[in-house]
Amino acid sequence: MSSKKGSRSSRWSSERPKESEKAFGRLQSFVAGPPKNGVQFMVKDSRKYAAAGGWGFAQFDDGKPASEAVHNTCFSCHATVKARDFVFNRYAP
Ligand code: HEC
Repeated sequence: MSSKKGSRSSRWSSERPKESEKAFGRLQSFVAGPPKNGVQFMVKDSRKYAAAGGWGFAQFDDGKPASEAVHNTCFSCHATVKARDFVFNRYAP
């Protein structure tokens, strides 16, 4: 069976590996495929990015850097989680 594309994430397309389907005997697992709306990064450098809480923000669309206007939106929104060092996600409770 060809890999079906789901729509679980707005950021990544999802791929369903044939091998997993065969092992489970039904559609169950999926893995992240190619990015859909760009890839975002945060890089910590307290000196270089002192004006943005010590974080450099970057977005790439189709492998190319996003515009200045896009990048100007990052810090103000992440500033809402200043108490968590501007990082929303938690890897452990
Ligand atoms: C309107 C608010 C908003 C804007 C603007 C925004 N982000 Fe985020 N960002 C979030 C939220 C909420 C999360 C956590 C939920 C998620 O992953 O979707 C997040 C998660 C992230 C993460 C994962 C680390 C973390 O904080 O959990 C990175 C990296 C990131 N954003 C980078 C960027 C970059 C780069 C930009 C600008 C191009 C940007 N963000 C703009 C709200 C925003």
